[in-house]
Amino acid sequence: MAHQSALIAEDIEAYLHQHQHKSLLRFITCGSVDDGKSTLIGRLLYDSKMIFEDQMAALEVDSRKVGTQGGAIDFALLVDGLAAEREQGITIDVAYRFFSTEKRKFIVADTPGHEQYTRNMVTGASTADAAVILIDARKGVLTQTRRHSYLVSLLGIRHVVLAVNKMDLVGWDKGVFDAIVADYRAFAEQIGLSVFTPIPISGLGGDNMATRSDATPWFEGPILMDWLEAVEVEDDLQAKPFRMPVQWVNRPNLDFRGFSGLIASGSIKPGDRIRALPSGRESRVARIVTLPGDLDQAVAGQSVTLTLEDEIDISRGDVIAAADAPAPVANQFEATLVWMDDEPLPPGRTYLLKLGARTVGASITDIKHRVNVNTLEKTAAKRLELNEIGVCNLSLDQAIPFEAYAENRHMGGFILIDRLSNRTVGAGLINFALRRADNIHWQHTDVTKVSRAALKRQRGQVVWLTGLSGAGKSTIANLVEKRLHALGRHTYLLDGDNVRHGLNKDLGFTEEDRVENIRRVAEVAKLMVDAGLIVLTAFISPFRAERQLARDLLEPGEFIEVFVDTPLAVAEARDVKGLYKKARSGQLKNFTGVDSPYEAPESPELRIDTTAIDPVEAAERIVAWLEGQEIDYTI
Ligand code: ADX
Repeated sequence: MAHQSALIAEDIEAYLHQHQHKSLLRFITCGSVDDGKSTLIGRLLYDSKMIFEDQMAALEVDSRKVGTQGGAIDFALLVDGLAAEREQGITIDVAYRFFSTEKRKFIVADTPGHEQYTRNMVTGASTADAAVILIDARKGVLTQTRRHSYLVSLLGIRHVVLAVNKMDLVGWDKGVFDAIVADYRAFAEQIGLSVFTPIPISGLGGDNMATRSDATPWFEGPILMDWLEAVEVEDDLQAKPFRMPVQWVNRPNLDFRGFSGLIASGSIKPGDRIRALPSGRESRVARIVTLPGDLDQAVAGQSVTLTLEDEIDISRGDVIAAADAPAPVANQFEATLVWMDDEPLPPGRTYLLKLGARTVGASITDIKHRVNVNTLEKTAAKRLELNEIGVCNLSLDQAIPFEAYAENRHMGGFILIDRLSNRTVGAGLINFALRRADNIHWQHTDVTKVSRAALKRQRGQVVWLTGLSGAGKSTIANLVEKRLHALGRHTYLLDGDNVRHGLNKDLGFTEEDRVENIRRVAEVAKLMVDAGLIVLTAFISPFRAERQLARDLLEPGEFIEVFVDTPLAVAEARDVKGLYKKARSGQLKNFTGVDSPYEAPESPELRIDTTAIDPVEAAERIVAWLEGQEIDYTI
């Protein structure tokens, strides 16, 4: 579907050329259905003739049938009709609509306006260059207007229209318009949105949308369509130092090796010195390759393939930067985080962080404060719930090249992904790097993990027992250690109750504390494997994510997950420590299996059914499994 133009009939080639070379504006509309958002978008599509003939006919029929507009066309029906066509089953639902005029092509992100859709709005706004914030002239600046504006400002959108809609319902009163604009300005200045363009409109009548309205002789500013067609979004990115995140390494044959990506900022010419990040290696640009041919220069916003004069190792996710002004590289950040998952964020849990083409492990070490999106108040927070926004410290498992989000969206915006479900759970904006890790380096040691283990004639491993309280983990782990000890193995047993008397005595049983409990135990177990020991751990370790973290800290084959599978009813009937009784009577809170969840392993290396075998047999099976492995003792 394309814009209808007289050129289509006269000179199709000229039309296609013109269409292809039009600039593209991505914008977002903010407001709720009550503000007339659907009508506004429907009107834009209609005015730009982006409606099929059959849709138009259906629209006329529907408008008459529904009758909300007294027989006139109800543009909201058009958008709602399109909404029904939206792809189903995606969690973060943003409807993108395309339209074009003689001058420009547009993609408008349409997201629902209510607070429970904050994550949708963030998703839509993250790629938008401009925003149309809708206000109902009868209602003025509302809490939701403030929330939408805050998100727009947070996501770095600097071109904003304040569309004061339904002006017909307030008699096109200039006084009402001016008061709303003054009210909005007072708020917008607090959030750094000091420049915006107010326009009095009526989405229903189309006033000041595609044509200037006779009803507002007092209004001298641009009308909406003119503003959308003219707004300059090519900001100062080209003037900034060169950065290109590498999307992929293009190696069609042995003679060609190019690095492809979208230039995030700056410009580049053949001969320019570059530095690859994070490695720090330098070279010069040999060629700038594109499909139509080599370029003498490329600038921010272009997708190109660079070849270099030297063979240096660069992989997907690395950044090619100007050698004299490289991007910073760090592994700890302060970031503003929008939580998008139904499950709240507990600090300490590790996620995958995806920034551009790079994916690394990351954990939130500290939530500094939460921002109330309606009042902008900062409050202390232990966790972030769905749609909440907080300022956090993050720690990554490797250093990455980056830029503050305010400087460059492409290099400072990231998403957090759940390791197990692959869901996007959060979106983040890097504020700045924390320098505290800068002065800590890895110290080389000559005696290695392999040599330590070889001396003991064993392989360092972790046997990770997980299961409910009272499942039999400690009893089985103790028997396994005894048996291994008798076989001459060097072992250590980390047991939940014991560790909680020392290293973890500051931790309780909230979700956050359990996450931290297991994180510390996983790190200790890793050190012990490094020392060449066979480590047995007996912790409830109720969450899959932390067991996965423990696994990921080790090398393949070093982590053996043993599910001590005792049904709740059986563990409760045994109730060796009397804790289930206490939990059921309400004396003990957050008890696993009672009012705190247990996530059973999905594919453990071993599963012990304690209703079928006793602890001695269970221990024998584990030992047999361990002793049955082929181990290479050569150093
Ligand atoms: S974990 O969930 O963080 O892995 P961990 O294995 O260290 O738990 O400690 C569990 C032990 O603490 C239990 O075996 C039980 O003896 C004791 N305990 C005390 N309170 C609780 C509770 N609320 N939930 C579970 N276990 C508890």
